[in-house]
Amino acid sequence: MAHPLEQLRDEALREIESATDEQALETTRVKYLGRTGSISAWGEQMKTLPKEEKPVVGKLLNEVRNALTAAIETHTAQFRLQKESGVLAKIDISLPGTPHEIGSLHPLHQMHERGIQIFRRMGFALAEGPDLETEWYCFDALNTPPDHPARNEQDTFYLPDGRLLRTHTSTVQIRAMESAPPPLRVIAPGAAYRRDELDATHSPQFHQIEGLYVDEDVSIADLKGELEFFMRELFGSESEVQFCPHYFPFTEPSLEVYVRSKALKGGEQWIEVAGCGMVHPAVFEAVNKARGDKAYDPEKWSGYAFGLGMDRLAMILFEIPDIRLFAQNDLRFLKQFS
Ligand code: PHE
Repeated sequence: MAHPLEQLRDEALREIESATDEQALETTRVKYLGRTGSISAWGEQMKTLPKEEKPVVGKLLNEVRNALTAAIETHTAQFRLQKESGVLAKIDISLPGTPHEIGSLHPLHQMHERGIQIFRRMGFALAEGPDLETEWYCFDALNTPPDHPARNEQDTFYLPDGRLLRTHTSTVQIRAMESAPPPLRVIAPGAAYRRDELDATHSPQFHQIEGLYVDEDVSIADLKGELEFFMRELFGSESEVQFCPHYFPFTEPSLEVYVRSKALKGGEQWIEVAGCGMVHPAVFEAVNKARGDKAYDPEKWSGYAFGLGMDRLAMILFEIPDIRLFAQNDLRFLKQFS
């Protein structure tokens, strides 16, 4: 004859089998396994059993409790699965998704990428410096004395603490030479700032790619040849490049670079695109002073530097009539360059 506990187990298993939802299962669980359930009651009853029966019944009681718990868990999991697949079945996976707008690179960014790519092929590494600078990096180290007009309050954005927004990317020349001895061949793309009135061709924020090459026996022929190569890569092989004497405190001699090409406004005009020159010995000396060594001995090393006006280049190349368009974030404008 089956033990009453076994009968109780079979009865409970039948109830579990026939439960139609999670709620019914829970009721069954409480009925048998709850604190006052019939299986639990057997636990109490154990105490009254004769000593020799205790181990046998105790073992059976455990088996029954485990069997019921397992059966309830299995059925609960089944109900949950059914419920979930019911919800999933209602989702129409053939419906189109919510489209993401795909943007495009800003024309100025595209211009930088083109420029950087050409310079990288020519062996230049990327360097950088902060937009917020000290007077030393922007002027003093670049042989620009305190009475130079570029340092005027009317021309430069000064902070109350004496720092300023760099007026050119030439600051990075100094930073690059401070952190590495020659030979050095770097470009530094970035923003520069001047107190210019905003109009179609002037903006208080504009962009440059600075270049610096320091080695033994660097000559002005290297400078001219490499900038010419760059311009032809950018504007087409028939482009003409012209260099005119100019003045910058940190280069000697100094030159301005003009380009003329059929690709640019039909080739009628010479367009100014860069300033450049041979690094002034005073700049090397300032760097040596900051480094505390003689790494940039002007007797041994020479170099050239240039600064390209990237807004101007982008305006010419993409035929953009107004520099203000770069900063207005008008999608009708930006979408034309995707
Ligand atoms: N920093 C100069 C400018 O912004 C350009 C320049 C760079 C000239 C390097 C010579 C050498 O006008």
